[in-house]
Amino acid sequence: MEVMTANGVQAYVEKAQKYMSERRAHRDRVRNLRFDTIAVHGMYSAEEAFSGGQGGIIEPIFPSTSQAYRDSDEMEAALSYQIPTWCYSRIHNPTVFYLEETLALLESYGCECDATGLCTSSGMAAIKQAIEPLLAKRDAGAENINFVSAAQTYGGTFQLFNVRMAERGAQVRWVCEPWKLEQWEPLIDEGTRFLYVEMPSNPQQAFADIRAVADLAHSHGIPLIVDATIATPALMRPLEYGADIVVHSLSKTAAAGGCTISGAVIARQGMVSRHLEDEVKADYGLWLKLWPFRDSGPSMSPTTAHTILGEVRTLRLKMEQMSRNTMTVAHFLADHPRVERVDYLGLESHALHDLAGRYMRVVDDGTPSFGHLMSFNVLGSAQDTRVFFDGLQRTWRATDLGRIKTVATIPAISTHQQQGEEGRCLAGIPDNMVRLCVGAEHPDDTIADLDQALARL
Ligand SMILES: Cc1ncc(COP(=O)(O)O)c(C=O)c1O
Repeated sequence: MEVMTANGVQAYVEKAQKYMSERRAHRDRVRNLRFDTIAVHGMYSAEEAFSGGQGGIIEPIFPSTSQAYRDSDEMEAALSYQIPTWCYSRIHNPTVFYLEETLALLESYGCECDATGLCTSSGMAAIKQAIEPLLAKRDAGAENINFVSAAQTYGGTFQLFNVRMAERGAQVRWVCEPWKLEQWEPLIDEGTRFLYVEMPSNPQQAFADIRAVADLAHSHGIPLIVDATIATPALMRPLEYGADIVVHSLSKTAAAGGCTISGAVIARQGMVSRHLEDEVKADYGLWLKLWPFRDSGPSMSPTTAHTILGEVRTLRLKMEQMSRNTMTVAHFLADHPRVERVDYLGLESHALHDLAGRYMRVVDDGTPSFGHLMSFNVLGSAQDTRVFFDGLQRTWRATDLGRIKTVATIPAISTHQQQGEEGRCLAGIPDNMVRLCVGAEHPDDTIADLDQALARL
């Protein structure tokens, strides 16, 4: 074991500076690679494989809870954050860091700005981590703390905003039609800390003009946060259009295999917020990781990170295929006599098709592509909807989405049940709505299953 005793803490700081500058140079080279190459390799290189291990071509899992130090000087330098450290896996872990870097590079792909990623134990943890510091009561007189959000959010997000944040004294103000810019402006005032939009939203397919909403937020000195879980960076990268923070439930499309619960916050370096200190805004993602996240502990396990790294390598391929399949299924449903209405942004008949087409495109290729989440309303009552739903044979009935396997749910009795009739009305979730997430099966087989279930009505 190498022991450094001569120069104390400073020697470790100097050694770390050299390491960090080499790492930055490597990162700059990776940033210039194409999306698929970054997704496949991330920051893991042959040099790293040989220097730290036995040359394995896949990032290793580092299960250890903590890192040992060569002596007390290294420990002091590390724990005072003077040098990078894996000190304790709740804060930092090398396998998780490979994923954080990959996500940051993918999410900021093609952007002038750089970004920092933070992985969390779930998508809800990511959203909570991203927003809480922005809502902090920074001075004794701070009253009227609020934030403005599109009303069409995942049910858990709706509850977090409507109930949990209200308990902490922060008021959510809902925008019912987030695609209309004029609905955002009147809700913003001195106490507003950020704007928030989920797009495409789960399950209603709401969408907003990111660039316009980001400009509006910035004109008030506040950030825009986008939940881009459904699109993934293979189809849409909100930072490119001015968003400050992107949150993901990695439990979903990004890890379509369906074996992990996880999330991520990816924050622009140099984000806008008149409420945060300059050093925090300079790298909000890193600050979150080193301070609030360390103190609250919703960390991702290294095995989860390893699974997701494997999934992300084929992200663009999967998104392209599943989007194509969804388009085929959406056309079938749109023509079906037992279907009242289909909401899929890919359909030209969808009111937000053109707006979504400006933002959702296959990375590097540019073809408009709308992801694999859609919803449709069965022509009939809530009971008819159950009859159809119970008749599905290959499509899985589950409160899940983003899967490589086709999955359906009835939001009113599952994901959006907690928010009650009034909340569902606000968010546009009728009882006869079915959320369908089309997987990678051949679309003919998916259609055959839907067709036989609709025939039961
Ligand atoms: C769009 C969106 N954001 C966030 C979440 C929450 O993610 P998780 O279940 O990983 O906590 C979900 C869950 O369905 C979601 O669909």
